[in-house]
Amino acid sequence: MPTVSVLFVCLGNICRSPTAEGVFTSVAKKSGLISELTIDSAGTSGWHIGEGPDPRTVKAAAKRGVKLSHLRGRKAVVEDFSKFDYILAMDHENLRNLEAIKPSGYQGHLGLFLAFAQNYQEDEVPDPYYGGENGFTFVLDLIEDASLGFLEHLRAHHDFNP
Ligand code: 4NP
Repeated sequence: MPTVSVLFVCLGNICRSPTAEGVFTSVAKKSGLISELTIDSAGTSGWHIGEGPDPRTVKAAAKRGVKLSHLRGRKAVVEDFSKFDYILAMDHENLRNLEAIKPSGYQGHLGLFLAFAQNYQEDEVPDPYYGGENGFTFVLDLIEDASLGFLEHLRAHHDFNP
């Protein structure tokens, strides 16, 4: 049975949070912890429900060996707070929108994903949607770093099976 559940959230659920879902899944597989985790992503907007990730996002992730094409966009909903132990937002605006729907009794962790980054000072993953290819590469750099830091956090705070 999975022991810890994680939801990554951005605006559209077609660029940053699918990247986080795919990269963190890959990191968790390599670490052997994947069977202890449930990993998903969602958007605070409903603009891309049912769509696959942006082709630029799919291409940038594929260059690093991460497949995203099977993912489909969905909107973050209040029920997610009863399903996920960690809800990690890509930027402050997404975080504010999640805080607005967070039930008062939520016992999990709602915060910024980049709080777990170790080699970058940024606290937000910048929205790459209206920019060039470099933006997608930088999104991956930030998310790879935060994924490693988050995995370390999970190991330190949860009793996973050996
Ligand atoms: P994401 O990027 O939040 O990282 O998925 C965006 C995707 C789509 C739009 C904005 C940001 N949009 O305006 O449709």
